[in-house]
Amino acid sequence: MHALSSIFVLGSCAVQTVLGRPDAALRTKRDGAIVKRSVDSFIQTETPIAWEKLLCNIGSSGCAASGAASGAVVASPSKQEPDYWYTWTRDSALVLTGIADSFSQNYSASLQGTIQNYITATAKLQGVSNPSGSLSDGTGLGEAKFNVDLTAFTGDWGRPQRDGPPLRAIALTRYSKWLIQNGYTDTAKAVWPVIQNDLAYTAQYWNETGFDLWEEIKGSSFFAVGSAHRALVEGADLAAQLGTECRACITVAPQVLCFLQTFWNPNGGFVVSNINGGQSRSGKDLDSILTSIHTFDPSVGCDANTFQPCSDKALSNHKVYVDSFRSVYGINSGIAAGKAVAVGRYSEDVYYNGNPWYLANFAAAEQLYDAIFVWKKDGSIKVTDLSLAFFKDLVPGIATGTYDSASTTFTSIINAVSAYADGFIDIASQHTPSNGALAEQYSRDNGSPLSAADLTWSYAAFLSAADRRAGIVPDGWSAENGNTLPSTCERTQVAGTYAQAAAPSFPPSQTPNPSADPAPAPFPTTCAADDSAVYVQFNSKVVTKLGQNVKVVGSVAELGKWDVKKAVPLSASGYTGDSNPLWSITVPIAKGSSVQYKYIRVESDGTVTWESDPNRTVTVSGVKTEGTGCLAQSVNDTWR
Ligand SMILES: *[C@@H]1O[C@H](CO)[C@@H](O)[C@H](O)[C@H]1NC(C)=O
Ligand SMILES: *[C@@H]1O[C@H](CO)[C@@H](O)[C@H](O)[C@H]1NC(C)=O
Ligand SMILES: *[C@@H]1O[C@H](CO)[C@@H](O)[C@H](O)[C@H]1NC(C)=O
Ligand SMILES: *[C@@H]1O[C@H](CO)[C@@H](O)[C@H](O)[C@H]1NC(C)=O
Repeated sequence: MHALSSIFVLGSCAVQTVLGRPDAALRTKRDGAIVKRSVDSFIQTETPIAWEKLLCNIGSSGCAASGAASGAVVASPSKQEPDYWYTWTRDSALVLTGIADSFSQNYSASLQGTIQNYITATAKLQGVSNPSGSLSDGTGLGEAKFNVDLTAFTGDWGRPQRDGPPLRAIALTRYSKWLIQNGYTDTAKAVWPVIQNDLAYTAQYWNETGFDLWEEIKGSSFFAVGSAHRALVEGADLAAQLGTECRACITVAPQVLCFLQTFWNPNGGFVVSNINGGQSRSGKDLDSILTSIHTFDPSVGCDANTFQPCSDKALSNHKVYVDSFRSVYGINSGIAAGKAVAVGRYSEDVYYNGNPWYLANFAAAEQLYDAIFVWKKDGSIKVTDLSLAFFKDLVPGIATGTYDSASTTFTSIINAVSAYADGFIDIASQHTPSNGALAEQYSRDNGSPLSAADLTWSYAAFLSAADRRAGIVPDGWSAENGNTLPSTCERTQVAGTYAQAAAPSFPPSQTPNPSADPAPAPFPTTCAADDSAVYVQFNSKVVTKLGQNVKVVGSVAELGKWDVKKAVPLSASGYTGDSNPLWSITVPIAKGSSVQYKYIRVESDGTVTWESDPNRTVTVSGVKTEGTGCLAQSVNDTWR
């Protein structure tokens, strides 16, 4: 606490220059230079506060997390109205990715301890059975939140949520890559089994519906699918660096990218964030902005397939998203088009009457800082038909074309986009109280803080935006190895194997060791390593009623050795009606196996119905598939 008090004494003058200007008319008159100075000063003051408050919310020693287990990231210390005294899988992983990014830039023994505690807590949480399921078939990994002592939360909730496992894999991968780069590959190998469970879940369940990141809509969320794609591509890369392989990652990732494209609304020029589920909203949602900033990889420039922050799709989407809030919040009235405003989750939001969120303003700014970083790095800016409307708001009269860094238009764009991005931070700063506390929301009518106090994610969102503004960007995720689209989209899902990971042991004194030269192994673009396994796709037409599931069980270990408890569940994502009742799953099986198998139908109470005799047979040989180069084959069966 004393450290915080001294910050306030030092920073109070600076805070006063940026706070307490809720008057919209005054704001619109503030010119770019004033906004820039205000934002410089806000960031300087807020940064140490945000770090301190963020770390306060992490157990067991965090100053606001008393009672939370070691490594548990509490969403907010608020225990009522709202009760956020839980650890959410998504929030925690995003916060830890931010911590690991900072740690990779700037070594800190204490942050390293925080990351290690989180990994240990994650290994434990993976094994905690909960209302989403258990680890044995991976279903339990889709649970959204746990009690802060790492026990299961058993109340009603929107579950499962599919973004948690990929986000967690991304956070752990970030630290693993630091370990490898600094010569601690054995420690990274000890973390790998934890990551493997989350990657297996992602490869198996990415094509199933789940609740979105706001925990409201059951369907497919752009953010969950984009996170899955990044996790699989990066997971394949990490596996190769560890001398192993994630075949399921390699097989599935292109299909996830393929599916990701289908969220685009070409007429509106924006991402429809939620599909495959009943909803009456426009789909213009912070979900999409968060996807672009959390899958940012400077190595692929302004690639639109991976929705990079500076891609024409992501910029067009940014404009449509921001504009959707201009007329809905009272505090935005009087602010001209093309100027930053208060933004929230989605314009139809009614939670706490639907307000702007601090982290939304930070994310809207972060996307633009990311874009600026890439434009400067690559030395040019391309304005396309699709992104023209975004640019016209900021540089009136601009035409489509490519502007290289020597041109005056390039400079005009950089200046205008920088000022626009700063505007989003400036608005959040105007509604930040003088003690620097960041709640979840601020009132749509008068800007006062609302809902959960000291939201951990708000602090993390501030810190990453501030870093990007300063040109500090994380390493990429090998997106250049995973941004090619297959010619057609398929529903490839690979059945995973799951095992309780031991808590990794973290040897002391793993400090930066830049002389370590690990010569990273190349990304495996094929499955050629040893071709010991064949990807066998089981397709079975089985008419089922709601609540019934179909599994495959057989003579080999991969199919449970006739043990019904170990049968592999099929996915109904291809079931389009009783005329096409397709259930399928892909299972890696040792090459050369001679397999007997049958399908079973399982009722919701666990009752099993077997297919009639004889046993089915398949000899596993496989043929090389195009694209991934994996050995694969399929069987097409009909229930009997
Ligand atoms: C690095 O971290 C230390 C604290 O561990 C902090 O004082 C310093 O400002 C940081 N440097 C940068 C460049 O972020
Ligand atoms: C599964 O993938 C297919 C092919 O991309 C897609 O059409 C379908 O909507 C997806 N369903 C879910 C629930 O992800
Ligand atoms: C199918 O395989 C099981 C397990 O080996 C065996 O007990 C059963 O007799 C087989 N069924 C037929 C019809 O061969
Ligand atoms: C199973 O069906 C798929 C899709 O129609 C087809 O590509 C594949 O060749 C079939 N497999 C066999 C063994 O007939």
